[in-house]
Amino acid sequence: MTANLPDEDVVVARAPAKINVHLAVGPARPDGFHELSTVYLAVSLFDTVTVGPGEGIALTVSGEGTGAAGGASRVPVDRSNLVWRAAELLAQHAGVPADATVDIRKSIPAAAGLAGGSADAAAALVALDALWDTRASRADLVELAARLGSDVPFSLLGGIALGAGRGEQLTPVLARGRWHWVLGMAREGLSTPAVYAELDRMRAAGRIPDGGELAPPDPVIAALRSGPLQALAAVLSNDLEAPALSLRGDLRRALRAATDAGAAAALVSGSGPTVAALARDEAAAVRLTAALAGEGLFRTVRAVHGPVAGARLVG
Ligand code: C5P
Repeated sequence: MTANLPDEDVVVARAPAKINVHLAVGPARPDGFHELSTVYLAVSLFDTVTVGPGEGIALTVSGEGTGAAGGASRVPVDRSNLVWRAAELLAQHAGVPADATVDIRKSIPAAAGLAGGSADAAAALVALDALWDTRASRADLVELAARLGSDVPFSLLGGIALGAGRGEQLTPVLARGRWHWVLGMAREGLSTPAVYAELDRMRAAGRIPDGGELAPPDPVIAALRSGPLQALAAVLSNDLEAPALSLRGDLRRALRAATDAGAAAALVSGSGPTVAALARDEAAAVRLTAALAGEGLFRTVRAVHGPVAGARLVG
């Protein structure tokens, strides 16, 4: 809860982290973004955003990767935070003043390849829509989300979705299964633009295929729809893994540690450096979590499951 407000005046929303179980990246476009074909999966690691009345925007952040828990705070509390921009954009759209206190409680580390900043922005849109009674439609919120960042629409939608364009054009994917993953989150984040730039460099140098043809997502979608788990394990892929490994050599050891500890497969999540390890079942995820935590390679190791719903009001 926001420290100085009675509970009845605040609105709370939460939004999930995502992993990309398929991430094919095309060449850079004229606007600097890369054309993607991706399959997003929302997993049960949530940031919580609490909003209340205020004058102007006042932002506070606590939790994973901030303040004492993460050394120097890496999550800004000024206009450069996506949540601030989300508040301004929604206020402008609704024709209301951008007045709110906003408290972000982070479980999803920043710059981890888990769309933590996007989750915060999505949760803020949902919470502020309720606080300000803007009555924005879901379609309006999705449109605002796409203006904030490539992954923000998915943070709103949740579940499983096919992403095209720069990732913001979504088609929901229906699948009956539930998958258990273990996330190994690194001590230091990776900058998403830096990883895309490294991909471009490696392609220009001929070190990896040029991305002229995007690998289709169909095998991943078929595996998600029908199982078995080994089928999904066999088709997980991420074009950003090679550049993430190029920038952070220690990730190779982290991926190997996950498969050595019994993961069905392990890959870098999005632009990294989080390692997402697919566990055979819930009990295996618990064992894998303990084994990876014991390796000392990660700051935090968490067992999660997915798919889960997108940004929602809480309580
Ligand atoms: O959309 P978002 O602000 O999350 O993107 C952050 C950065 O990641 C972009 O500025 C760009 O460098 C890179 N990016 C990209 N292609 C995408 C998505 C992101 O090059 N499809």
